[in-house]
Amino acid sequence: MALLLVLFLADILTLSQGSSQPDHVHRHIHLLRPQSGAGGDLVPGLSCLSWRLGVETNNIIGWKTIPQECGGYVGHYMLGNQYRKDSKAVADEAFLYARSLKLPRDDKDVWIFDVDETTLSNLPYYAEHGFGVEPFNATLFNKWVMEGKAPALPESFKLYKKLLSLGIKAVFVTGRAEDQRRTTAANLKKVGFHTWEKLILKESSYSGKTSVVYKSNERKKLEKNGYRIVGNIGDQWSDLLGTNTGNRTFKLPDPMYYIS
Ligand SMILES: *[C@@H]1O[C@H](CO)[C@@H](O)[C@H](O)[C@H]1NC(C)=O
Ligand SMILES: *[C@@H]1O[C@H](CO)[C@@H](O)[C@H](O)[C@H]1NC(C)=O
Ligand SMILES: [Mg+2]
Repeated sequence: MALLLVLFLADILTLSQGSSQPDHVHRHIHLLRPQSGAGGDLVPGLSCLSWRLGVETNNIIGWKTIPQECGGYVGHYMLGNQYRKDSKAVADEAFLYARSLKLPRDDKDVWIFDVDETTLSNLPYYAEHGFGVEPFNATLFNKWVMEGKAPALPESFKLYKKLLSLGIKAVFVTGRAEDQRRTTAANLKKVGFHTWEKLILKESSYSGKTSVVYKSNERKKLEKNGYRIVGNIGDQWSDLLGTNTGNRTFKLPDPMYYIS
């Protein structure tokens, strides 16, 4: 247990610093065992890998926690190389697409970025709370958010910088509440996201509304104001579904939680 915790911390630091780690750490972390379900929430015979694929493809929806027996699997996925590699594949594809566009450079082309698990990582928090095995605790999570210590997701950060260099403006649209604006802005700047066209947070008038409704409505307002949404990236399908989704959408991995 103590050894595992040390390895977790080693990897969290890697995530925030973008450095590589010793091979023995990789070998340990990299044991992605597709465990079979032995009851719990998992359909009998469904492996954790199949469950994760189902989640990423939006076939498995509306779940509150990850299956108990997949806690170890998801932890290893998140802290090992695979999460980082999967994120890189998404960001690389997004950049290839963006680079292929002939844009007028009139400051109206924007790219929508979600915040949590897209630009900022809450992995240090989730590593302490079972990687989604524990039911979501808003009090504890908001406390972590207000510390403003979330690291950047390295692959998304690289994409952000490349998009800016193409003349595409960043617009952050986050489910974080309006009263978390100052902390969120400071956290984004601290880890390198130094500029944006807009930072849109969820106003209280949206309370009770789904993320799909909130984000669609905010994107519609952007388009009404003359912006062209050339791309949209998020870790939840609710970032990418609905209306005014943008010309292309890019789904980052997130097997830890589900937001409708
Ligand atoms: C959230 O965590 C706090 C602190 O551990 C606890 O007191 C509270 O009951 C939890 N809330 C829920 C809804 O579980
Ligand atoms: C985005 O989609 C719209 C509507 O289909 C199209 O007119 C526009 O040319 C597209 N923009 C880019 C950059 O591909
Ligand atoms: Mg998110």
